[in-house]
Amino acid sequence: MSEARTAAGELGSQLQQALQAAIAEGGPVAGIEVCRHQAPQIAETISDEQLQVGRTSLKVRNPDNAPDRWETRAMEDFERRLAAGKAPGEIESFAIRNDGERRYGHWMKAIPTQPLCTACHGSDISPAVADAIEAAYPDDQARGYSVGELRGAFSVEVALD
Ligand code: HEC
Repeated sequence: MSEARTAAGELGSQLQQALQAAIAEGGPVAGIEVCRHQAPQIAETISDEQLQVGRTSLKVRNPDNAPDRWETRAMEDFERRLAAGKAPGEIESFAIRNDGERRYGHWMKAIPTQPLCTACHGSDISPAVADAIEAAYPDDQARGYSVGELRGAFSVEVALD
């Protein structure tokens, strides 16, 4: 699963770089555009026929990122491991899955909430940011997070045959 790990690492670092640059230049409202347009684009660039990388959460902002049942159970298990004292950076999960048509390895890794994230995912979001989020994501559930909580997970599927 080293290619899954590399893909998730790439998505995480490219996104964080783009986000930090946009926020430094135009504030968090500009950052929303990065998350909205560049996140799926970066994920697509890193993905290919054999490997798909994305992000999901138990409380999604974009319904397109909603988890399937296995991902939901994996993240519920991540929450239990975090509560039991495991370091968030070490929480991950892997299974061989079979959807009837293909076999694939499914790897997930916890994404902890960092200070940078709370501008858009915390409980004290500025009115301008809240307005921009509501305009683009009327069903947003991804707020109220504190630093250290699990915001979600990287999810990588790698085709096995
Ligand atoms: C500038 C605002 C902003 C900041 C800062 C921000 N996010 Fe987001 N985040 C968003 C938006 C907007 C989306 C929806 C993206 C989409 O449409 O796919 C999102 C989506 C996500 C998702 C995908 C699941 C979902 O809820 O749809 C994860 C996981 C996530 N963010 C984690 C983080 C983490 C971790 C940080 C801090 C390192 C962070 N975000 C910082 C705005 C932000």
